[in-house]
Amino acid sequence: MSEVVTYTREDRVGVICVNYPPVNALGHGVRSGLVAALEQGLADAGAGVLLLVCEGRTFMAGADIREFGKPMLEPTLPEVIHRFENSTKPVVAAIHGTALGGGLETALGCHYRVAVASARVGLPEVKLGLLPGAGGTQRLPRLTGAAKALEMITRGDPIGAEEALALGIVDAVEPDGDIRQVGLAFARRVLAEGRPVRRVRDLTDKLEADRGSEVFQQFRDALKIRARGLFSPFKCVDAVEAAFTLPFDEGMKRERALFLDCMASPQRAGLVHAFFAERQVAKVKGLAKETPVREVRRVGVVGAGTMGGGIAMNFANAGMPVVLLDASQDALDRGLAVIRRNYEHSARKGKLSPAQIEERMARIQPSLDYDDLRDVDLVIEAVFEDLAVKQAIFARLDAVCKPGAILASNTSTLDIDAIASATRRPEDVVGMHFFSPANVMKLLENVRGRRTSDEVKATVMAVARRIGKVGVMVGNGYGFVGNRMLHVRGAEALALVNEGASPQQVDRVLTDLGFPMGPFAMADLAGLDVGYRIREERRKAGVVVPDSWMDTLVARGRLGQKTQAGVYRYEDGSRTPLPDPDVATLIEDFRRAQGIATRTIDDQEILERCLYVMINEAARILEEGIADRPLDIDVIWIHGYGFPAYRGGPLFWADQVGLDTILAAVRGYHERLGGESWRPAPLLERLVREGRCFGDLT
Ligand code: CAA
Repeated sequence: MSEVVTYTREDRVGVICVNYPPVNALGHGVRSGLVAALEQGLADAGAGVLLLVCEGRTFMAGADIREFGKPMLEPTLPEVIHRFENSTKPVVAAIHGTALGGGLETALGCHYRVAVASARVGLPEVKLGLLPGAGGTQRLPRLTGAAKALEMITRGDPIGAEEALALGIVDAVEPDGDIRQVGLAFARRVLAEGRPVRRVRDLTDKLEADRGSEVFQQFRDALKIRARGLFSPFKCVDAVEAAFTLPFDEGMKRERALFLDCMASPQRAGLVHAFFAERQVAKVKGLAKETPVREVRRVGVVGAGTMGGGIAMNFANAGMPVVLLDASQDALDRGLAVIRRNYEHSARKGKLSPAQIEERMARIQPSLDYDDLRDVDLVIEAVFEDLAVKQAIFARLDAVCKPGAILASNTSTLDIDAIASATRRPEDVVGMHFFSPANVMKLLENVRGRRTSDEVKATVMAVARRIGKVGVMVGNGYGFVGNRMLHVRGAEALALVNEGASPQQVDRVLTDLGFPMGPFAMADLAGLDVGYRIREERRKAGVVVPDSWMDTLVARGRLGQKTQAGVYRYEDGSRTPLPDPDVATLIEDFRRAQGIATRTIDDQEILERCLYVMINEAARILEEGIADRPLDIDVIWIHGYGFPAYRGGPLFWADQVGLDTILAAVRGYHERLGGESWRPAPLLERLVREGRCFGDLT
């Protein structure tokens, strides 16, 4: 008998129990253990009914993702489920935690399902570039009908137990409690009532109701927008449709073929890389697992502008009280009004109730007085990018905040050590760099200063998790990781426009790659004054920053979306960027004044110059130890800048393109354009020389 799956009997219930921490993934050991335990249960004359239940924190959370890309060992999951479904004794699945992917598919192969109230079920395969490949696309619609099955399978979001009950996915929901006892009680009922074996594959009424329905085409049309660029959501629709057009066994074959197409797709590889990378970044290199974490109960935010307000919302959303401080009542009122508007926007989308809005607003205490920060455990400064201003604020925070309070800066480019030097507690100073809009974007770049203590590092990583962000620890250096790469891309995007491309063309090339928006639309969203201030700070620091038509836009009060005009124009209340002839003229005037002869620039050059320059910079960032691993950079770009997750992040993508191809192009651009950012990074050269790739560095 396998160690991870056991068979025991309690009176007349044969109990098949899976115990494979952390999440009971259906790896080879579990699959073969399930078959062996099932056979034992079937052979056990004393067992009238079988119960499938899991130990630990959850029911099976899916196939073992670590096995993807390797030859699949027998028994395969569809075979295991087939055997359970064909059991001559009724099988009950008892669900707690999350029954996901192959886990839910296994439960659907059982004859009855009982869940505890806190359980969640779902088919999230699409998020890994796959479709449910063990009968999920054939069985779920037999329970829920086409529309709900398509919704669950193409979105991949899990649903709660009550909803699952209403949809017929589970047969009963019981109060939370010991899952084994819950399962046993249900199994005994099945036995006592003499309920038969009931195979989902034999259910037909929902299929008949939706056969020939237009819902499949409607989903395909909607996915063209919602899932632009993605491969597997469309295959999910094809597979679900097969449940309605083919007999069960044929439908299973079709599902298998489509599943294998997805498995072979580079998008699957990218998304699986992103899945593991997102979990790996939580394990900060060099930070011991047992490092103590400080308790953070109350938070202060200095600066009630766009960033500060968004940051405060994160904590209010997580149920934590926040003091939001600014220098003037006006600024506070404006900030609070923006926060309220954001919440009301969520309420209109049905994500919040009016009572929840009030609850969250009540957690945010506006203040004009630094004394109100006396007892906060963490304070995050979010004022504009001016080192002297930030230093003055930190000196005040140092004076007022209690010992042990963490003093964080949301700076996106400035030197954390220089900021820390304004305090007597540099070990408590750290960067917490949120991304705009701060209440939405999942990334939090936590920046370690030279003297930041391990405890503070561990605490800000824990805070990230608590507020639902993906925290990545990075080193201190201009722009840290994300913005340093963004700035070389931005400079290149600007140069391309100066040389003859239009902002629309540059943006389109990047959205074609899968970015939700291009650099110019993104600049408008962040506010052109933000970039302008950064350029001014750099000029003050003696760096030569060339003049640009973007400075002229700022001088004319075109600050981006917030003034409904920036690089693009925006119609009342809309966030859709529209080309503006005035800006085109301004760009032409600028080119003329600078004596630039324009040329037609093709999309490939735009792609290479915007992306390869970032890859080259990333190689330097790695060499300098500003990022610990390539996967940290991938996660930063996926969650902070909308790099398409299905391409795995910039460095995973670079490995797919081929580092030799990229290096050759970098050399070519260096020769043609010159400049530091095109000088080939020694790490890139070394990797190519050694025939290795970024993936080898983790
Ligand atoms: N396979 C292998 N490892 C897995 C896994 C899986 N399906 N799911 C989670 N893990 C690992 C994680 O990598 C992590 O490992 P480390 O501790 O070494 O980092 C550990 O389990 C815990 O995971 P989380 O940190 O994510 O823990 P959580 O409690 O926050 O979330 C979870 C738990 C909700 C199950 C979440 O891990 C999750 O969503 N997992 C993926 C579920 C999924 O996509 N299942 C479908 C798989 S594809 C499939 O089933 C194909 C098919 O049809 C045949």
